[in-house]
Amino acid sequence: MPDFVGAVDQGTTSSRFMIFDHDGNEVAKHQLEHTQYLPRPGWVEHDPVEIWERTNVAIQNAIRSAGISAADLAAIGITNQRETTVVWDPRNGQPYGNAIVWQDTRTDRIASALERDGHGDLIRRRAGLPPATYFSGGKIKWILENVDGVREAAEQGNAVFGTTDSWVLWNLTGGPNGGIHATDVTNASRTMLMDLETLDWDDELLEIFGIPRAMLPTIHPSSDPEAFGRSRTTRPTRTEVPITGVLGDQQAATVGQVCFAVGEAKNTYGTGNFLLLNTGEEAVRSEHGLITTVAYKFGDAPAIYALEGSIAVTGAAVQWLRDQMHAITDAAESERLARTVEGSEGVYFVPAFSGLFAPYWRSDARGAIVGLARYHTNGHLARATLESICYQSKDVVEAMEQDSGVHLDVLKVDGGVTANDLCMQTQADILGVPVSRPVVAETTALGAAYAAGLAVGFWADTDELREHWHESRRWEPQWSDEQRDHGFAGWKKAVERTLNWVEV
Ligand code: G3P
Repeated sequence: MPDFVGAVDQGTTSSRFMIFDHDGNEVAKHQLEHTQYLPRPGWVEHDPVEIWERTNVAIQNAIRSAGISAADLAAIGITNQRETTVVWDPRNGQPYGNAIVWQDTRTDRIASALERDGHGDLIRRRAGLPPATYFSGGKIKWILENVDGVREAAEQGNAVFGTTDSWVLWNLTGGPNGGIHATDVTNASRTMLMDLETLDWDDELLEIFGIPRAMLPTIHPSSDPEAFGRSRTTRPTRTEVPITGVLGDQQAATVGQVCFAVGEAKNTYGTGNFLLLNTGEEAVRSEHGLITTVAYKFGDAPAIYALEGSIAVTGAAVQWLRDQMHAITDAAESERLARTVEGSEGVYFVPAFSGLFAPYWRSDARGAIVGLARYHTNGHLARATLESICYQSKDVVEAMEQDSGVHLDVLKVDGGVTANDLCMQTQADILGVPVSRPVVAETTALGAAYAAGLAVGFWADTDELREHWHESRRWEPQWSDEQRDHGFAGWKKAVERTLNWVEV
């Protein structure tokens, strides 16, 4: 058995390839950003060709920097930004335009029409999701209706859909020369087109969206020794490596954080925040604005479900301060700037750039900064930005506790923003619960590696994976109950101000 497992992590801002050893330690990685296209307010696009080219370079470079060859990889896993929609021509590998990113709100009218036409309950019941711009189904419909020739091409089998796992898999396994068109249950569960119980595309939902079944990838378990084929492009040796794990990035982080028992949860702080709570073999329906999703399915074992609180804009609000407002020059400066003041002093920033996701699901919301006086500075704005990350997480933790009856004793965290000490302390303060970060912070790639490694026997079982998890840092809450309640009441008032802002 080779000594390592590799993982592609095709994320919203970058693509990386990571190599792990048997203890789950990082051996090497290479990461490349891709361009964010923002052609109109609310639109967010990626170039699929750029994504694939950079992913491929990241794979070659990571293997080279580890000083190994592809033959030393027992398996490869793929994890990805979920929902982002690519439609391409399988005859030549050319995409029909840019990918529509999960944050893109151009389908707000499609989403509200679904509700108005009475399809909302069926979509919620069968797919576990509320009609929203976030999910892939509306994005595919938009492409079919707005990009010339795609509807006809799709009906003739010449236009296929995939989230970026499928797009990378198809290219990695041969592209137009025999690429595999497949996805896994976790990614499929983000489309509004899959039945959560049968784990197959649902004809009634396809009918509602007007999407031909032939466009869609085959759905497989997240960990499978055969279904995803072999990588054909791992130069320089051209060794074929089995691809045996595919799962959406937030589900992968749940696996990387070893949340294998009912009631275990993690919160990932990236472009957005995604809190997932393992609910076991039961697909629990939310009554408080969370979504029901597949957490993972390992081989023939039953699917494991999760309740998820998805927040569209958290780390992206810090990027906005940097790139659009030029208030800071790098993300780390948000902490330095926020520390120039004692607190946000009544300022709240609700970064509802893509409307509000969980637990509100309001595509009519738009961002607002409220509570300003002439006294306030950039420091207060930076602090309000960090607090917005934490208050949004508090909103979903509350919803999760109400839905599941599970009270979190500790919140396991990961993702880029967890490097921000002030933000993590603020999170513990706002939640009133300790916050804990593991030694291996790259839990997303690690989870994809785990899924791939389990399929080929590189790791025996989930108990073995649990032994790899160690805490590196813990933040204890310091605020009084009164301070916490007062702060949260102000946040709720600020959220109110962002609603009904645009017509959908
Ligand atoms: O659902 C969107 C999510 O998968 C994006 O994650 O880390 O690429 O921003 P990330």
